[in-house]
Amino acid sequence: MENSHRFTYPTLLTPVVQRDDRTMGDTPDFAARIERLRAVLQDHAHRYYVLDDPIVPDAEYDRLYAELAALETAHPQWVSPDSPTQRIGGKPLEGFGQVRHRVPMRSIRTETDTTPMGAAQFDLRIRKELGLSDADPPVVYMVEPKFDGLAINLRYEHGVLVQAATRGDGEMGEDVTHTIRTIRQIPLRLAVAPQPMAEGAEVQEVPEVLEVRGEVYLRRSVFRELNARAQQESAAGTHGAKVFVNPRNAAAGAVRQLDPAIAASRRLSFFAYGVGEVSPVFWAGCTSQWELLQVLRGWGFLVSTLVQRAHGHGELAARYQELGVLRDALDFDIDGVVYKVDALALQERLGYLTREPRWAVAHKFPAQEQITTVQAIDVQVGRTGKLTPVARLAPVFVGGATVTNASLHNEDEVLRKDVRVGDRVVVRRAGDVIPEVAYVVLDDPAEASCERGANPFRMPVLCPVCASHVVREDGEVDHRCSGGLHCSAQRKQALAHWAQKRALDIDGLGDKLIDQLVDRDLVRTLPDVYRLDLDTLCGLERMAELSASNLRTAIEGSKRTTLARFLYGLGIRHVGESTAKALARHFGGLDAILRATVEQLQAVDDVGPTVARSVRAFFDEHHNLTVVQALRACGLTWEEGAPVQAQALPLQGKTVVVTGTLPTLSREDAHARIEAAGGKASSSVSQRTHFVLAGENPGSKLAKAHSLGVRVIDEAEFLAMLGMGAEQADESGTLMQKTLV
Ligand code: IVH
Repeated sequence: MENSHRFTYPTLLTPVVQRDDRTMGDTPDFAARIERLRAVLQDHAHRYYVLDDPIVPDAEYDRLYAELAALETAHPQWVSPDSPTQRIGGKPLEGFGQVRHRVPMRSIRTETDTTPMGAAQFDLRIRKELGLSDADPPVVYMVEPKFDGLAINLRYEHGVLVQAATRGDGEMGEDVTHTIRTIRQIPLRLAVAPQPMAEGAEVQEVPEVLEVRGEVYLRRSVFRELNARAQQESAAGTHGAKVFVNPRNAAAGAVRQLDPAIAASRRLSFFAYGVGEVSPVFWAGCTSQWELLQVLRGWGFLVSTLVQRAHGHGELAARYQELGVLRDALDFDIDGVVYKVDALALQERLGYLTREPRWAVAHKFPAQEQITTVQAIDVQVGRTGKLTPVARLAPVFVGGATVTNASLHNEDEVLRKDVRVGDRVVVRRAGDVIPEVAYVVLDDPAEASCERGANPFRMPVLCPVCASHVVREDGEVDHRCSGGLHCSAQRKQALAHWAQKRALDIDGLGDKLIDQLVDRDLVRTLPDVYRLDLDTLCGLERMAELSASNLRTAIEGSKRTTLARFLYGLGIRHVGESTAKALARHFGGLDAILRATVEQLQAVDDVGPTVARSVRAFFDEHHNLTVVQALRACGLTWEEGAPVQAQALPLQGKTVVVTGTLPTLSREDAHARIEAAGGKASSSVSQRTHFVLAGENPGSKLAKAHSLGVRVIDEAEFLAMLGMGAEQADESGTLMQKTLV
């Protein structure tokens, strides 16, 4: 929101410039449009900067802003000093003292073209302005995350924090010393004792006046925790805390509080990235942004470990890519990267262009929030009968993909967000996470009138598929269809679950076929699948003889399976793939599981009371036992082994990611060994990853492991780990827990 150069996107408000040149009275059409945009943007800016309570995502603001900027460029006679394009930030909130920044807090130009070409253009411009020729070496840059928080200026006099101020409009900010003082990562007194530093300058003596600038933010984990509590409180009807839209607004709200106790309870964090006034100037020992950050570290500030140097535009583009990959795994929001010319002398030579430095540029990541319209709310019936409301959306491009559906989870969630058909909503999609409706856009000032959609949502009382009663048990948030396998939706999904690759792996038994088999009553229970003959299959729509015979072969082939696949395929509530594997490993055979008590089940690694009770309840149902026996009678077999005590396994409870080409093991072999050793093979590196097993050409997963501090091992080390006892593993400093042998 803070930048003045904006992307040009099509806008939800139809741009007047694309219409014919009608006029409204004496005023040209575009002038009315400019007026309208100004009013709308002003309102959004007020909500964002002053109230910390925006009602549209940044991308929407950016679009409106871009349209206004384009209109003003095309019709300069209509530019007025009070236009939102002519100011930096927001007005100070009443109740705070005002602070005039001795050195203005500027914004950074946001580049539209974030491709390697955009990086090359930035580099080219810098080289030109510095008068460099092709023969000169690459310019050195810093690439820093663009933290998505609140910019703060911290003023230290003789090493003591005397004042903290928000950016405000860049010239005047608000005095928030009382709330900033509650942030533990902000030193109240600068450290003067030399601290170990990675590289670069030594700790400098503290200048008489030092202003440190950086971003106050809320960690995602803390944000989730605070919001979960606020939701619980509001559900319980007690006067609860406010539910926040995103970590940045929660952080901004906490800083701009009159009561420091509230700020303290939000547990804010701070990253330093620059300085304001410094006197006397200490640059003698510090010649670059990189060294400056080391010095700040030495004085006790937290500087992100993700800042990196880059030589020339090729490395700029590479860093942008890397940070883009890391983005979702971080515990704080970043919305792009900032490229800065590293050498302070060059920064000075390049100077400023009105409100922005010429030596820096921001390249944002694709927006993860966009506005769209709810066209319908359907209710889907899951495999276990759970009813899930799903919002059908007007297609919208968000977080790098086109989204048309978003789960609304359950009735409480829909009512809490009060999502209705016809509403304009903000859709959020971050990384691989399933898209969600973040909130409804109410009284959007961009729309002349803002009537609510239809009536509030209500869960149907009868199953939309089989018309059985819908029930919601006490203490449960979910509604369920009581039809069980009588409900064709549940039967279809039970069958699809059974046939999927990770279960019985029946190639060719897809959704279309399952629909026919269930709708024609050819399959009522799982064993019926094994009784389908070639003639019956040939009689189905779009089923040629060859595919029918292939399907028969696949069905036959699935009979030889493993106990874990069989258990997983049954679709017992709470028994996912890894629990099924743990059960199979622990008990060795099916009969032992059928007989196991809840207590015995709980002895299995990762099986708690809920899972144990669910397994017991499943096999206590007579019809489930009948299905199990019938499947065995159809010829389903697997090897049964001796029970294994889970704790003895060397990778018990560990998550391992394999990347690159290993010298001897294939990817599948490696995964199989990880699982056989009690571990879990995962495809993406996160803070929960215990090791990354890396071979040749490992790619971005290795970079991610390094940046998250995840241990990296090679194949030899991996094999040694599987071979050795747990005690040795402990001694060798691995992350393995102490285990019993
Ligand atoms: S440097 C003169 N570095 O982005 C340049 N700003 O448009 C001063 N921001 O609100 C800013 N991460 O709070 C700089 N690594 C970073 C940043 C960063 C986030 C914010 C800053 C300001 C906006 C600048």
